[in-house]
Amino acid sequence: MITIAIAKGRMQDEALALLARADIRFNGHSAISRCLISTDQTGEYRAIFVKPADVPVYVEHGIADCGIVGHDVLLESEADVLWPLDLGIARCRLVVAGMSPGQIKSKGMLRVATKYPQLTSEYFGSRGTPVEIIRLSGSVELAPSLGLCDVIVDLVETGRTLQENGLSVIDVITESTGRFVVNRASYQLKAHNIARLLNALEQVASGVSA
Ligand code: PRP
Repeated sequence: MITIAIAKGRMQDEALALLARADIRFNGHSAISRCLISTDQTGEYRAIFVKPADVPVYVEHGIADCGIVGHDVLLESEADVLWPLDLGIARCRLVVAGMSPGQIKSKGMLRVATKYPQLTSEYFGSRGTPVEIIRLSGSVELAPSLGLCDVIVDLVETGRTLQENGLSVIDVITESTGRFVVNRASYQLKAHNIARLLNALEQVASGVSA
């Protein structure tokens, strides 16, 4: 059996739809389900549903053979996993956002709230901008208006959350899409099964029917 760790939240529905197009269907599982584990009809695949940041952890430790997670999460993670395929799903951008564009140029220490401390540190470090990074777990867009920070580094998909909280994009750090990642040992030990899954996902991801 191949275990696939799937990032819960924005990635989950698109990941399950892509797998279904590759004829891998986790029956009985839906976005509203609270069940965190599901086996497909054939009994060949098992899906586990975990927080995005935990997908690389489960895959690196071999609890999951492979996973589906955002590029942003992988860049932030230090997990040693293989990234063989860009699935092209859940497209979004990691941006610096604030209440006014000038804030990023302010002299002195910039306070930045984010769920991405590593990428934030690299981005501002490469520009020689001193920052105090304030780590949050979610609802990051709330922080500037309440005075917790000057700017935020966060994901933008539709832009609605930024807009409804009086923020706008100051700079785009990177684009992000869902990636298929594989445990190094599974890639060798389950080579045939992983190659079959990879090939099927590659075909559906590129729009070619399997
Ligand atoms: C993400 C992200 C933004 C929002 C952007 O949060 O961190 O808050 O989605 O989406 P939009 O551009 O389409 O409005 P998520 O929904 O994952 O929840 P979180 O705030 O708890 O991290």
